[in-house]
Amino acid sequence: MEPKRFTFRIRRFNPSDALDSYDEDFTLEVAEGVTVLEALLRIQAEQDGSLSFRYACRGAVCGSCAMVVNGAVALACRTQVHAAGSDTITIGPLPNLNVVKDLVVDMDFFLRKLTPVRPWLDPAGPDPERERLVDPDEWKEPEPYTNCILCASCHGVCPVTERDPRYLGPAALAKHYRFLADPRDGADDARLGFVDGDHGVWGCDTVWSCVKVCPKRVPPTKGILATRARIRPIEDKNGA
Ligand code: SF4
Ligand code: FES
Repeated sequence: MEPKRFTFRIRRFNPSDALDSYDEDFTLEVAEGVTVLEALLRIQAEQDGSLSFRYACRGAVCGSCAMVVNGAVALACRTQVHAAGSDTITIGPLPNLNVVKDLVVDMDFFLRKLTPVRPWLDPAGPDPERERLVDPDEWKEPEPYTNCILCASCHGVCPVTERDPRYLGPAALAKHYRFLADPRDGADDARLGFVDGDHGVWGCDTVWSCVKVCPKRVPPTKGILATRARIRPIEDKNGA
């Protein structure tokens, strides 16, 4: 297929301007197979060196390039321009996070949500002489949650995150379940306590938006529901 001319309508914001955010159009001839990230790099190199966006791996591994492309949250490095189904590609920053400049958002708010779920292994009993082995069958439950690249796409589409800044959010709750489900971890009761509240697993609307958008097939809602199911028996046992 011949290269085709596209208009890239990019949301711009510069904190040193007095202006509110605004859309700016750039046109570019783009060959088939070119990604939105590659198009942004060309616009930056050929038309406006001040255009700001974040990326690192270019291969859907680092989680840096999540943004809104034609109304949907996506990784720019694995979204092809020709597949967008339109001659105009609208591009904006990830929602539910403060914009630093253009398409760069402040990830601190998102990353700070990980701290309360203590995202590290907390095994019970004495240390083994060698590594802690896991039965492959027992690893099937936590394994999908280990694929998270912290891209914050789920955070960007979560309706609870949008209305409740204190909600831990899908990524932190998925990370929480990754360790709760890990057969080597020995801190289940404490872990359940971290998330047993309206800003934890009970806050989720279970609309599955996070699962649909996740580029790595992590299922946060599934983990949230599995965590709720573990909390209920404890409440029943205590007469709650
Ligand atoms: S769960 Fe998926 S969408 Fe959410 S931060 Fe991890 S990789 Fe990104
Ligand atoms: S540049 Fe690393 S995920 Fe897109």
